[in-house]
Amino acid sequence: MKVIWNSQIVEREEVSIDPEDRGYQFGDGIYEVVRAYNGVFFCLDEHIDRLYSSAQKIEMAIPQTKEEMKSLMNQLLKESGVETGNLYLQVTRGIASPRNHVYPDLSVLPTITGNMTIVPRDAEKIASGITAVTEPDIRWLKCDIKSISLLGNIMAKHEAHKRNADEAILHRDGIVTECSASNAAIVKDGVIYTHPDGNLILPGVTKIVWLKCAEALGIEVREEPFTLNQLAEADEVFCSSTTIEVMPIHTINGEKVNNGKSGEITRQLADAFKQKIEEHCGTV
Ligand SMILES: Cc1ncc(COP(=O)(O)O)c(C=O)c1O
Repeated sequence: MKVIWNSQIVEREEVSIDPEDRGYQFGDGIYEVVRAYNGVFFCLDEHIDRLYSSAQKIEMAIPQTKEEMKSLMNQLLKESGVETGNLYLQVTRGIASPRNHVYPDLSVLPTITGNMTIVPRDAEKIASGITAVTEPDIRWLKCDIKSISLLGNIMAKHEAHKRNADEAILHRDGIVTECSASNAAIVKDGVIYTHPDGNLILPGVTKIVWLKCAEALGIEVREEPFTLNQLAEADEVFCSSTTIEVMPIHTINGEKVNNGKSGEITRQLADAFKQKIEEHCGTV
């Protein structure tokens, strides 16, 4: 299987990760997940922009230009033969010895790895929705950086899993921020509410697209914080991410939302989102 390793496409077996790689030792790195449909990346520019923005926020210099990185990713997509699936791309601060919390100087080059996996689009789930539970948001205060240090996220997701739910909706002191691996939104009286971008959430690429869809559909969106009470009283609840698109949440903490059915506005957004994919990548 072909993978990205630094500036090249190589066989997976050729990659070796040093035990003193800072990604491995400190979780000192960033990543992106980019979706491909029919052999074409969706929203590649937006993902690249966020990758370089994350790098800049942690003072890490990626040696490739954005254009070079995009062509490397496109080359991997082509050579992998994957039609519909996900690219996981990771950039760590490289190998520095002896272990030292202080960043090494910029002559230490980042370690870049990337691989494609086949992940079919789950149209049935997008129609029927998923279950969620609420969990405290125990993460750090720079959630806008797409950091590979994901303990806070995976602990929340694992709690959800233990409670037989698909996703964890996170809250800080009763204010819903986002989910463990997606952005969160509610619909009340025809208006969509979602937490504003800032340091408490990841600025979702999927969210950028559904915000545009909502505008085109004439659906009002308020990017403002909402509470757990508002969540409990919402007409509709949905989450969004690159891998799950616009996904209805039909049950929260065992209580049904909208009688356990996907709501009308969520359905309209999910359909409009699918249309955007098809405009760029062909029929899905
Ligand atoms: C914590 C978190 N929030 C939001 C998102 C959604 O981001 P995107 O739509 O860019 O996939 C993700 C995606 O992985 C995430 O992990």
